[in-house]
Amino acid sequence: MIWVTGLDVILKLVKNIITIDGPSGVGKGTLAFTLAERLGWNVLDSGLLYRLVGYLSLEEKLESLSEIVLFLNKSKIKLLTNLKDSICEIELNERIVGKELRNEDIALRASELAKEEEIRNAIITIQRNAYDPEKGLIADGRDMGTVIFPEASLKVFLQASPEVRAERRANQLKEKGMSVIMHDLLELIKQRDEEDMNRKISPLKPAEGSLIIDTSNLSIQEVEEKVMENYKKL
Ligand code: DC
Repeated sequence: MIWVTGLDVILKLVKNIITIDGPSGVGKGTLAFTLAERLGWNVLDSGLLYRLVGYLSLEEKLESLSEIVLFLNKSKIKLLTNLKDSICEIELNERIVGKELRNEDIALRASELAKEEEIRNAIITIQRNAYDPEKGLIADGRDMGTVIFPEASLKVFLQASPEVRAERRANQLKEKGMSVIMHDLLELIKQRDEEDMNRKISPLKPAEGSLIIDTSNLSIQEVEEKVMENYKKL
């Protein structure tokens, strides 16, 4: 057991949480599920919660921040790890949502609303509750290592150029039979980077002591091995 003492914090580091932060399209989700399968842990796809917020704003027409926060507070929200399909889903008041949240309009709205402190605060507990100490957790997002799970003893930060990420996203969309305009996709990625990195609260940045990996020229197996090498050293 390791204790880290700072000026006013005493943090007990936890070995069975791995955080993975980084910009959109960098491969966090794929890595999270590869590791989760290998280790038998759960996955927290925190972006899905922000997408739910985007969905509430765009599709359910909850116009003000306070309406969204009220809805979140009075709803029963549970995160589910579906290892079979390598996706996370949300049980929202007995209904399963997931697929309807995965489109670029919702992602952009999610990113805009993620700047708001009220929104971020409203979903902290849901994210923290995704950790079951008996099971272990791979936490994927933008502030997993910096804010939500600072106690994780392994914090990974993935990076790759916007062009590489746009290309990967285009391939994923094409595989799903969707048509893609590369220029628009690249612009959306850059716009989200801008929103996510420059906001005042919980901006996207590597947590102190992160293992930083540039995934541009690496296969998923190579990234997985780098993470596992570091995990085994803990
Ligand atoms: O990971 P994703 O692309 O599904 O996330 C959608 C948006 O949600 C992302 O652009 C920014 C926001 N987000 C965030 O602010 N903090 C997180 N931990 C995860 C996502």
